[in-house]
Amino acid sequence: GAPLEVDLTPIQEGQIVNVFWRGKLIFVRNRSEKEIKESEAVKLSELIDPQPDSARVKEGHAKWLVVYGNCTHLGCVPIGHQGQYEGWSCPCHGSLYDTSGRVRRGPAPTNLPVPPYAFLNDTKIRIG
Ligand code: FES
Repeated sequence: GAPLEVDLTPIQEGQIVNVFWRGKLIFVRNRSEKEIKESEAVKLSELIDPQPDSARVKEGHAKWLVVYGNCTHLGCVPIGHQGQYEGWSCPCHGSLYDTSGRVRRGPAPTNLPVPPYAFLNDTKIRIG
């Protein structure tokens, strides 16, 4: 599939935008400073699928989280800004994700994966 360019300019802080690439739902989330700090502060030992926040965002662009939008359990679409970790909550079987898209409560076994993407400039990304 062709790469997808996403203009970040209209995405407000706190907002999550849904895009589709190769038929897959992807969330693009503009994270607040508080959400970034919280995600960075989590100890890896607390995580089901240990990954530092820094490995899930691009250096210098920690505001922006880009993840596939289907729960890693059975593929339902998690709801943003819900659940104890304020990332996403899956309506199907209750998995919780944090503001880094990392699973914090199962049954989902793994974090929401980060698709291949790059920043073209400060306000535009290309997915794929
Ligand atoms: Fe999300 Fe089962 S599909 S918890």
